[in-house]
Amino acid sequence: MKKILVIGSGGREHAICEQFRKSPKLEIIFCLPGNAGIAEVAKIVDGIKIDEHQKIIEFCQENKIDFVFVGPEQPLVAGLVDDLEKAGIRAFGPNKNAAQLEGSKIFMKKIAVDNNVPTAIYETFTDEKNATEFVKKLAQEFNFPCVIKTDGLAAGKGVIIPQNFAEAEVAIKEIFAGKFGEAGNKIIIEEFLDGFEASYFVLCDGKNFVPLGFAHDHKRVGDGDSGANTGGMGTYAPSPFIDKKLEEEIIEKIIRPTLRGIEFRGILFAGLMISKNIPKLLEYNVRFGDPETQVILPRIKTDFIDLIEAAIDGRLNEIKVEFDEEKKLVCVVMCANGYPENYEKGTEIKGLDLITEAKILHAGTIKKDGKILANGGRVLNIVAEAASFESARSKAYEAIAKIDWKEGFCRKDIAKKV
Ligand SMILES: Nc1ncnc2c1ncn2[C@@H]1O[C@H](COP(=O)(O)OP(=O)(O)O)[C@@H](O)[C@H]1O
Ligand SMILES: [Mg+2]
Repeated sequence: MKKILVIGSGGREHAICEQFRKSPKLEIIFCLPGNAGIAEVAKIVDGIKIDEHQKIIEFCQENKIDFVFVGPEQPLVAGLVDDLEKAGIRAFGPNKNAAQLEGSKIFMKKIAVDNNVPTAIYETFTDEKNATEFVKKLAQEFNFPCVIKTDGLAAGKGVIIPQNFAEAEVAIKEIFAGKFGEAGNKIIIEEFLDGFEASYFVLCDGKNFVPLGFAHDHKRVGDGDSGANTGGMGTYAPSPFIDKKLEEEIIEKIIRPTLRGIEFRGILFAGLMISKNIPKLLEYNVRFGDPETQVILPRIKTDFIDLIEAAIDGRLNEIKVEFDEEKKLVCVVMCANGYPENYEKGTEIKGLDLITEAKILHAGTIKKDGKILANGGRVLNIVAEAASFESARSKAYEAIAKIDWKEGFCRKDIAKKV
C-alpha cells in the first residue's frame, strides 16, 4: 500500500489526487499546500512551504512516503526532484537540468534546433537596443505580427504578439525595464505561426515514453477567443482534429528527436501549432497542464500508481497504457470576476453539494468556518464526461447553473467548436 505526497494546489493537483484514488494500491495521499477541494481527498501538509526542500525531505522520511509527485513547474525548475533523490526519496518529475525545457525558452529552442525539431524561426536578445532594431527591420520587411517571449517563467504572461512596430517597441521597453523580473533579462523574438493549437502529453522515464493524448485549451478570457491571455479557461479531450497519422508525425518529428537530445523523466507537454496539417513546436512544459490534466487523466484506465512508479523506475517499456476510448471530456474553468487582472478574494461559493452531473475540482479555494471561499483567480473546474462532446458540454453548463457564486464567471463557449 502506497503513501504519496503530491506537491501543488491547483485543479491539476486535485485531478491527480483523484486519479491516484482510483488505485486499490493507495494507502494515503498527502498534499502540499493543497486547497479546500483537495482537503476532501488528501491530508493537507501544514507548516511547510514549497521551496523548503529540506523540510519536505524530512516530512517524507518521517511519514515513509513511497514517492513524491511534483505538479507545478516552479519546484521542478528549482531542483526539488534532484534534492529529493539525493536524500534517497523517489520523485516523479524532471530534474533541474531537464526542467530548463520549460524554465528557459532559449534552452528549449536550442534543444529543438539541435535535434531538427520543427519550430518557429527565432533570434535571442539580451538588450533593448538590438531587440528594437531587429523588430524595426521586421516591420520594414512586412514581417508582422511577430512574437516576443521572455526567456524565463512568467506564469503564462511572458508572451506578447505585437501587431506593429509601435507595439513591439513598447513591449521590448517594458520587458527590459523589468516588467517580468529576471525572467525578462533575455528574450526571444520569433516568427508568428498560423494554425490551430494542441497540447500533447507524453509520459517519459528517461529512456522510454508513452503518449497520454491530446487536449485543446481556451487561452483567452472572453467568449470567441477575445480579451487577455489567461492560464486557461477550459479544455476538452480527446482531440477531434488530430488523427493517428498526424500523431505519428508529431511523435517522429517532434517528441522522439527531442528525447534523443535530452534525458527526460516526467511529463513532457508539447505546445503545438498545426498549420495545414504540419505540426510545429511552440514550446515545452515539463509537467501536466492545468486545466488539460482534468480532461486527460479520466481517460486513462491503467492503474495510475503503477504507471507513475514505472516512470520513476525506468520501466515504462513493461507497461501497457489503456484508455477509455469512448469517453469525451469537457472542463470549464470558473474564475473570480476581474481575472486575469484584479479580482477579489474571500467571496463565498454555494451550491456545490447539489451537483451530480459533473465533477467539481478545486483550484483557488479555501475553507473557512465550514464555508468554501474563493482564494485565487481561477477558482473551480467543472469537469463533465459523456459519450459525446455535446452531452459532456451540456452537463458541465447544467452543473454551473446550480453554482451560487455571483462574484464568479466562466466562458460560455468551451468546446463549442466541436
Ligand atoms: N510563434 C508563435 N506564433 C503564434 N502564436 C504563438 C507563437 N508562440 C506563442 N504563441 C501564442 O502564445 C501562447 C503562449 O506562448 P507559449 O510559447 O506557449 O508560452 P507560455 O505558455 O510560456 O506563455 C501560445 O499558446 C500561442 O497562443
Ligand atoms: Mg504555453
